[in-house]
Amino acid sequence: MTAPIVPPTPENISHACAILDAGGLVAMPTETVYGLAADARNTAAVARLYATKNRPNFNPLIAHIATTTQAASEGVLNGPAQALAAQFWPGPLTLVVETAPTISVCDLARAGLDSVALRRPAHPVAVALLNAFQAPLVAPSANPSGQISPTRAEHVAADLGETIDLILDGGPCAAGLESTILDARAEHPALLRSGSLDAADILRVTPRLRNPKTDPNAPRSPGQLLRHYAPRAALRLNANQPNSGEAYLGFGPGPATLNLSERADLNEAARHLFAMLRTLDASHTAIAVAPIPMRGLGEAINDRLLRAASMPKERL
Ligand code: TXA
Ligand code: MG
Repeated sequence: MTAPIVPPTPENISHACAILDAGGLVAMPTETVYGLAADARNTAAVARLYATKNRPNFNPLIAHIATTTQAASEGVLNGPAQALAAQFWPGPLTLVVETAPTISVCDLARAGLDSVALRRPAHPVAVALLNAFQAPLVAPSANPSGQISPTRAEHVAADLGETIDLILDGGPCAAGLESTILDARAEHPALLRSGSLDAADILRVTPRLRNPKTDPNAPRSPGQLLRHYAPRAALRLNANQPNSGEAYLGFGPGPATLNLSERADLNEAARHLFAMLRTLDASHTAIAVAPIPMRGLGEAINDRLLRAASMPKERL
């Protein structure tokens, strides 16, 4: 049976909680991308989540929590983590911290690591679900592992509708790129994944941010080793114009099949990126993408494009 797409009424939030309590899988909107939620305490539910996404079980999940107090019972929030949480939660920031003795997130969700990734989302539907559920929900992006993340309920239905239980429709995601992930265990946090929260904003709270791209000793995230975000079509990056047969994904004024942002706004481009890649992928076998400047969210957009382009043409 195909998972129903339902509006986030109080009745449907209660229904979603009942499904999660029984070990089921519910897609929920967040301000970044749609997540596929499961009870973080329930190993069987988490195992089903990995299997549904075809996700390698060495790649740990993010535990979503409703309050910073709840976060502090799952992980140890040291000084830098507390400062970051106070500034950016709720919002598109994930903090990797040491597990707390009272942790409820199961080992499988953490891929057996002694750390846990915590995120307090801002989207009202995610907040309503977390408040109603009263326990952490793991929620990876609601797409098969390696493919393009969903930014609309219909994307989730197309990718996973046959294998999950319910899709809460919260409309299109406002940010469109996944959360920024920091390893906050040391005095100087390390950037594990660039994302919707601009690193320049983070630098205002933490004076130094370690980056594995420039620091060989900085910690790395298992997920960053994987190919990701891949359309079926071949992707050619930094293209000033399309070759014959290619769709052109533009940025800034000028002719394009689709334009990430005619006014060259990187926030707008981030919001459009995944949906436009999906649309072009459905109608073309080759996509040329305009150069995206490296300032602001451009870093996260280029990160996604690079990993999408390094994927083999055939889906795994
Ligand atoms: O915006 C987001 O973060 C979305 C929404 C749904 O919240 N979620 C998301 O989850 O992007 P996912 O599973 O697609 O990406 C989670 C990333 C992976 O790269 C994983 O390796 C990393 O978080 N991660 C999770 N736990 C970790 C840990 N303990 N240490 C290092 N990296 C970790
Ligand atoms: Mg993902």
